[in-house]
Amino acid sequence: MQIIHTVTELRNALKNQTSVGFVPTMGNLHAGHIRLVELARQRASCVVVSIFVNPLQFGANEDFSSYPRTLEADCEKLKAAGADMVFAPSVHEMYADFDGTHLNQSMTITPPPLANALCGAARPGHFGGVATVVMKLFNIVMPQVAVFGKKDFQQLLVIKELVKQFNLPIQIVAGETMREESGLAMSSRNGYLTPEQKNTAAQLQQTLQQIVRQIKQGDSDFAGQERAAVRALSDKGWQVDYVSVRSAANLAHATAQDTHLVVLAAAKLGNTRLIDNIDFLR
Ligand code: PAF
Repeated sequence: MQIIHTVTELRNALKNQTSVGFVPTMGNLHAGHIRLVELARQRASCVVVSIFVNPLQFGANEDFSSYPRTLEADCEKLKAAGADMVFAPSVHEMYADFDGTHLNQSMTITPPPLANALCGAARPGHFGGVATVVMKLFNIVMPQVAVFGKKDFQQLLVIKELVKQFNLPIQIVAGETMREESGLAMSSRNGYLTPEQKNTAAQLQQTLQQIVRQIKQGDSDFAGQERAAVRALSDKGWQVDYVSVRSAANLAHATAQDTHLVVLAAAKLGNTRLIDNIDFLR
């Protein structure tokens, strides 16, 4: 497995590859990421994984500087998973005019309206930063297939729109969320949780499951379910950002006619913001 830090080196290494599968990550890899690598492995002869903590998608008060950076351990895992190349650029390599403090990326991608609600409302600029770096990475790697996790459901839809609206010849594959035994969705940010918080963090998933059960039993009072879920989580000490039942196709508020739904939540346990979702047919 090659570990590559520059765009020029990566382009050279990819020159004769005909089928490239790509998994963009921010590192600190867990079993959820490795599953995405396996999905890419099944679809392409060369698998590239990027590891880049993208400053453009973090807000001023977010965890960019404390985000865990574990390149060596990540590379071990990726080698074992059968990745061919790791692309781990510096901030300077990705943002050429970076002067040490300011990213002079004056041209950016404006994400579609579906990025404005939910996490987009709580994290202004986040999805623009994601779409911009993913566009840059796509232009560098030029994959035929790219794999993203369903845990970041809103991000997945933003990327699908990016590919559609910019006519990119890339097939987007969605990987199912991997979970701890408790049901907690695997996430690099779970590392911020205390052992006690980790024990209660599965409540987020349990709350979503409860809503799914109610909907499958015929209850279409989505607003009522959302309110009850927010109340239940708040009572247990969570600071809830949102619990919302949406159309899985475009994240519009769910209607009684929708058949493919997604119920999403974001909430803080202490200082750690966790997200989760379940998409399902009814
Ligand atoms: O999901 C992530 O890890 C990031 O948002 C991504 C897609 C690698 C872009 O920085």
